[in-house]
Amino acid sequence: MALPLILLAAAALLLAYKLFSRLRYKLPPGPRPLPIVGNLYDIKPVLVRCFTEWSEKYGPIFSVYLGSHHSVVVNSAALAKEVLKDNDVQLAYRNRTRQINKFSKNGMDLIWADYGPHYVKVRKLCTLELFSIKRLEGLRPIREDEVTAMVESIFNHSSKPENKGKAVVLRDYLGMMAFLHITRLTFGKRFIDSDGVIDEQGQELKYILNNAITLGTKKSAFAEFLPWFSFLFKEQNEALAAHDARASSFTKRIMEEHTLARQKTGNTKNHFVDALLTLQEEYELSDDTVTGLLWDMISAGMDTATITAEWAVAELVRNPRVQRKVQEELDRVVGRDRVMTEADIANLPYLQCVTKECYRMHPPTPLMLPHKASTDVKIGGYDVPKGTTVSVNVWAISRDPGVWKDPLEFRPERFQEEDVDMKGTDYRLLPFGSGRRICPGAQLAINLVTSVLGHMLHHFTWSPPSGVRPEDMEMMEQPGTVTYMSKPLEAIPTPRLPAELYKRVAAGNV
Ligand code: HEM
Repeated sequence: MALPLILLAAAALLLAYKLFSRLRYKLPPGPRPLPIVGNLYDIKPVLVRCFTEWSEKYGPIFSVYLGSHHSVVVNSAALAKEVLKDNDVQLAYRNRTRQINKFSKNGMDLIWADYGPHYVKVRKLCTLELFSIKRLEGLRPIREDEVTAMVESIFNHSSKPENKGKAVVLRDYLGMMAFLHITRLTFGKRFIDSDGVIDEQGQELKYILNNAITLGTKKSAFAEFLPWFSFLFKEQNEALAAHDARASSFTKRIMEEHTLARQKTGNTKNHFVDALLTLQEEYELSDDTVTGLLWDMISAGMDTATITAEWAVAELVRNPRVQRKVQEELDRVVGRDRVMTEADIANLPYLQCVTKECYRMHPPTPLMLPHKASTDVKIGGYDVPKGTTVSVNVWAISRDPGVWKDPLEFRPERFQEEDVDMKGTDYRLLPFGSGRRICPGAQLAINLVTSVLGHMLHHFTWSPPSGVRPEDMEMMEQPGTVTYMSKPLEAIPTPRLPAELYKRVAAGNV
């Protein structure tokens, strides 16, 4: 008899505490949460569109409950500034799920580290060492190798008599390019054999990456938000431990291979494994941090590049006027008797505006990465209590008619009329975030995507599959934290340069 009474009293106390907390603070308004599930019952699959609709209903700042966890979403440039500049330090923590805690060894990496001495040290290492201008330049041959390898493989496929005039699924090529680029840059290896097939170690890497996504979408992952699912924690723990062991052994083997190679040749290469292993002592990095940083780069840098480039080509297929204008610029600056390189980008201002317009309309991480309040703060006149997750809806901001003229129109000229920065100083355009936690890979990503676009348009003219009108192309997002196109883009590539310019420009031993 006593036990049920104690449980009832505990539940009543908990409820009273929650009610008291809510009344104590002036929280932002928002959709009505239900007990236990919060707003999970009402959230639509494409989260960013759902949040944008809610911001129209509840205002530019609103509350949302994932289960019982309180989150705040801001949807205007002015409020983004309050989050990312005025309250930057107080809102620089991260919210780690159980899965993320396991993968990041309680935030011993960069992406999932809370703001503090560890974060400051690792961030400094990234800024000064991994993403320095010198290293970005040193890694350029890898980018040019992979982009030209992709062009060659599209050309070879579409030149076969049976494929002439047929559409290709662009994501297959972009995905392979992005995989080979980021894994080479991070792990210092091209995981592909002489027949162009992913080798055994590369297959293991792909398995690890896919398994991480599967684990995140399994029902046991929802136990995070819904307490009555906590009996699934045991199953989840086992799956996470097995995954962790496999990923660690993969990374250990790679690190050993590079240590051996360095001892043999005395040479340190430009890629991140060599950089981190040689800096490990100077920066006092634990093995967990080195491993965590390597996986951070893979997870942050792979899908994002594919997503932006796919949306960009889709926009250019829909807007032949813009496509022709970029090609005219390329023909004028590069000509038709050589392949463009990254060194040409500085002389291709319209191409740069096209890249920027793509990042404006289709930021691949449309809600950035959520931040967490390390203390109580005020945003937009509302209380944001310690522990709240705060997201910035950069997708809604870059489509806000209050700050952009005809925001739904794909018009790169807007950036010739007004030069808007996209690396964190203008709160209307924040594909890479802003402030302390701004994406350290922003310049690398801009270089890669601009180079991909330049090559794609210099080498080919892109048109919709036969029977599809450009204006009828599907331009919706797929559900998920990153916004792939809901339907992989299919487009017909028509070569426009002499055949000998479609050869891969292979990089040496970078
Ligand atoms: C189109 C490409 C990319 C986009 C749009 C993008 C966007 C972002 C965004 C919005 C954030 C979160 C900022 C915040 O929390 O305030 C972020 C963080 C991060 N990105 Fe990127 N990113 C891209 C490519 C890359 C690449 C290529 C790398 C590395 C190779 C990278 C590494 C990181 C890391 C390590 C963080 C965590 C920073 C921190 O928490 O301090 N990103 N990125």
